[in-house]
Amino acid sequence: MRPARLSSRLSLSVAMMGMVLALFLSALAYLSLVQQLDRIAEQTLEEKLGQIRHGIADMGIRPELGDQAHNIRDLVRGHDNMSLTLYGPAPQFQQLLTVGNLSGNPPLDIRDASASMRLERWRSAEGKSFLTAYQLIQRSDGSQIRALLSLDRSADQALLGAYIESTLIALPLVLILIATGAWWIAQRGLSSLNQFRRVASLVSTQDLSHRISLNNLPLELKELANGINYMLHRLDSGVQQLSKFSDDLAHELRSPITNLIGKAQVTLSRERPPEEYKAVLENCTEELGRVTRIVSDMLFLAHVSHPAELTPFERVSLHEEAEKVADLFSLNAEEKDIRLRISGQASVCGDRLMIQRAISNLLSNAIRHTPAHSAIEIEISANNNNVTLAVSNPGAGIAAEHLPKLFERFYRVDRGRSRADGGTGLGLAIVRSIMGLHQGKVEVDSTIGGITIFRLCFQDTQPTPPTGKQ
Ligand SMILES: Nc1ncnc2c1ncn2[C@@H]1O[C@H](COP(=O)(O)OP(=O)(O)OP(=O)(O)O)[C@@H](O)[C@H]1O
Ligand SMILES: [Mg+2]
Repeated sequence: MRPARLSSRLSLSVAMMGMVLALFLSALAYLSLVQQLDRIAEQTLEEKLGQIRHGIADMGIRPELGDQAHNIRDLVRGHDNMSLTLYGPAPQFQQLLTVGNLSGNPPLDIRDASASMRLERWRSAEGKSFLTAYQLIQRSDGSQIRALLSLDRSADQALLGAYIESTLIALPLVLILIATGAWWIAQRGLSSLNQFRRVASLVSTQDLSHRISLNNLPLELKELANGINYMLHRLDSGVQQLSKFSDDLAHELRSPITNLIGKAQVTLSRERPPEEYKAVLENCTEELGRVTRIVSDMLFLAHVSHPAELTPFERVSLHEEAEKVADLFSLNAEEKDIRLRISGQASVCGDRLMIQRAISNLLSNAIRHTPAHSAIEIEISANNNNVTLAVSNPGAGIAAEHLPKLFERFYRVDRGRSRADGGTGLGLAIVRSIMGLHQGKVEVDSTIGGITIFRLCFQDTQPTPPTGKQ
C-alpha cells in the first residue's frame, strides 16, 4: 500500500478536528437557541397572564364577566398564536370565556391550578408544540377564576427546523473549506523540506560539501537544518581525516619498503663479498624494524580505540611508573649526559601499561629533543581531583603553528629529521588516545629556544569502565 502523503494526513486530521469542533459549536448554538426561545415564550405568557389577572381583578363583584369581558378578549385577540380560557369557580368549573381557537387540549387538569403560575409543555395530535400557563385568580369579591393561557410554538419550531437545515447544508461546505485550507498550509510548510531532500540526494562519501541553506526556513526547521549541517561538517572532516590518514599510512610504509627493495636489487646486481651482504642485511633489518614499529603503533592505536577489550582500571602511582620508565631510558639519557629528575606523588585510576606507554612516549621525545648535558623534569602534582604529570625539557622548542597539529597521526615538525631519527609521528597520537581513554587530556606549551612542556591531565574520579570509541 502506498504510504499516505503527510499533507493529506494533516489535512484529514485537521478536517476531522474541524468537524468535531463545528458539530460541537452547532449543538451548543442549537441548545442556547432552544433555551432562549423557551425563555421568551415563558416571559410572553407570564406578562400576558399578569395583564389578564389585573383585568379579572378589576371586574367588580359579579361572578360572571358580563360586558367587561371584551377588555380581556382584546388582550389576547391580537395574538394569533394564543388562546385563553377562563373557568368559573368549583365545583362546576364552567367555561366563562374562550378567546382564540388553537387546536388540541392541554393534558392538564384545571383543578390543579394554584395561586402561582404553572407551566406545561405539550404537543398536539398533529405534532404542534404548545406551552400553556394556568393559574388560580382570586377576585376582590372572594370568588375564584381559573385562567388557562396557551401559546402555539409552531413559529419557534419552524425556526429551529430552519436552523438545523441550514447547519446541515453549511457543515459539509465548512469542512471542505477547512480541509482545503489545512492541505494548502501543510503544502506550504512542507515545501521547505524539499531543500533537505535535495541536499540528501547530493551528499555522498566523495562529496560531503553540500549544506542546507538556512534562508527562508521556519525556525523549527532551522534548528534541524543546523543539526544536519553540523553532522555533515563532522562527517566531512572525519572522512577527510580518514583519507589523509590512509594516504599518510601508505606514504609512511612505502618509503621503507621502497628502500628495502632498492637495496636488495642493488646488492643482487653483482657478486659481493660476504661483509657487504652482512652490512646490507643489517641495514634492511633496521628498515624492517621501522615498518614493524609503524604497524605495531597502528595496532596499538586500534587497540586503544576498542576499549571494551582493555583490562579493568586499577590504582596507579604516577611516581612509580615514571621511575620505571626513567630506568628504561637511563642508558639513552646517559649517552647524552641528560639528567632525569622526578618529583611529586599522586595516583590515578587507569590502565598501568597504557600510562607507562604515554610517559615513555613523552620521555623518548624529550630525550630526543634535549641538548646534551641538560636535565629533563618529570613533575607530578595533584590539585583537588586534577592530577597532572608534566614532562619538561629545554631545547629548540616548537613553533606555535605546529602545536595544534602535534597530536595528529604521522604529524612531525621536521619530517625529514624525525624520520632519520627513527620517529614515525605516531607517538603523540598514541598519548592523546590513551588520555582520551582515561577521560583526561594532553596539553603542550613550548617557546622557541626555551622549555617544552607536555602535560598529562587526569581527573582522579572513581574509575569508570571504558566504553565507546576514543
Ligand atoms: N619534547 C619535544 N621537544 C620538541 N619537539 C617535540 C617534542 N616532542 C615532540 N616534538 C615534536 O612533535 C613531533 C611529533 O612527535 P611524535 O612523538 O608524535 O612523533 P615522533 O617522535 O616523530 O615519532 P614516534 O614518537 O612515533 O617515534 C615530533 O616529530 C617532534 O617534531
Ligand atoms: Mg615520539
